[in-house]
Amino acid sequence: MQLYRKLTAMIDEESISMHVPGHKNNTIGYLPRIDWRYDMTEIEGLDDLHEPNGVLERLNGELSKKYDGYTAQMMVNGTTNGLLAAIYAISKSHKRFIIAEGAHKSIYHALELAGVDYISVTIEECVFFSFTTDDVLLITYPTYIGECFNIESIIHHVHSLGGIVITDEAHGAHFDIAEGFPTSSMNYQSDVTIQSYHKMLPALTMASVIFVRDRLIYQSIMKYIDYFETSSPSYLVMASIEQAHGFYNDYNAEKFFHKREKLIEVLKERNIEVRMQADPAKLLLFHPVITPRSLAECFIAQGIYPEMWGDEGVLFCLPLFHDNDRFPFRLLLERICTMNITESTSVTIEVSIDFLENRVCVQSIIPYPPGVPLVHEGERITSSAVKSIAHYLNNHVRIEGVKANLEHYKNEDD
Ligand SMILES: Cc1ncc(COP(=O)(O)O)c(C=O)c1O
Repeated sequence: MQLYRKLTAMIDEESISMHVPGHKNNTIGYLPRIDWRYDMTEIEGLDDLHEPNGVLERLNGELSKKYDGYTAQMMVNGTTNGLLAAIYAISKSHKRFIIAEGAHKSIYHALELAGVDYISVTIEECVFFSFTTDDVLLITYPTYIGECFNIESIIHHVHSLGGIVITDEAHGAHFDIAEGFPTSSMNYQSDVTIQSYHKMLPALTMASVIFVRDRLIYQSIMKYIDYFETSSPSYLVMASIEQAHGFYNDYNAEKFFHKREKLIEVLKERNIEVRMQADPAKLLLFHPVITPRSLAECFIAQGIYPEMWGDEGVLFCLPLFHDNDRFPFRLLLERICTMNITESTSVTIEVSIDFLENRVCVQSIIPYPPGVPLVHEGERITSSAVKSIAHYLNNHVRIEGVKANLEHYKNEDD
């Protein structure tokens, strides 16, 4: 019962979630309304997620009302599943894929599966790029750390040249929830937008929704959702999407902004610099004396778990506070007030990786989170990539793919 013991210990120590999922250890939103017994399957009366025409179709219909002109489909395998299905489907009708910087690994996986090539561009280049009617722009909005940019002008530019836009809005399911929050790409007619309901709204992990404007594109995406997604969808996850949707529709942000202000005040009293993002539910934290990694360790020592840390700072995903939420806000403030702020004493990981320089990467190297590839499979590992990998490892940031490359080249040298 290893995992059970680990999870129980996290709850017993009253760990405080400043990370995804948005229900924050079941302290935000309406998940307590869901009973384990609801874990049923597609029996008579409970519809079929892959060809819905009953209760699930009606729920999709409710979700579609979120933005005018879209058809929504719930998914239980996350935005990853939506990206795989959308890219695979659209690769049948469009030849060129243009990827804006900061794309999640699932986008590259989808392109590899579909056997299509891509061009990488920066966000700034998107508005100057010569799109054609054969083109698809894949864009991530907002970024993982809650930055936004002028998505309206980018979508407008692509459409004016006849291309289409797929927006990875994994971190934006709460956009437009209330005044003061950023606005979704769907207000600017993104052709396909995918939102992870589980990340910033109070839904179960893997809950996601894909929104599609064009009926034909919707139908071809549905075909590939059926290919990529489990044929045994979790009714718990789907019920949590319904609860999160109700939460979204009824949300009043007064408590959120009030508690957010209080939290920022307490952080500043501890000399922690707070960098606000376009998304008010994300805060990047720094300390003038200690490193982000050390700061994250100080929080964790107090049982406060951030979303991630790196050179960008320590990332907090804030709870969407509401009336009668169960989030331990007072405890959070108390722990920050009494937290011992010191430089980390944990040992630096010493891994010799210099011999990877100039080698061909055999498995993509991806710091996780955020899941944006640093070196793609098949590319040469440059000396600057080696330096970045060493830096991530020294900072105890999880990084996928390093082990596979090390093992591959170690064996080769033997
Ligand atoms: C930008 C981005 N896109 C897509 C995903 C995948 O989303 P999901 O976890 O819902 O599959 C993530 C996950 O972290 C992400 O950060």
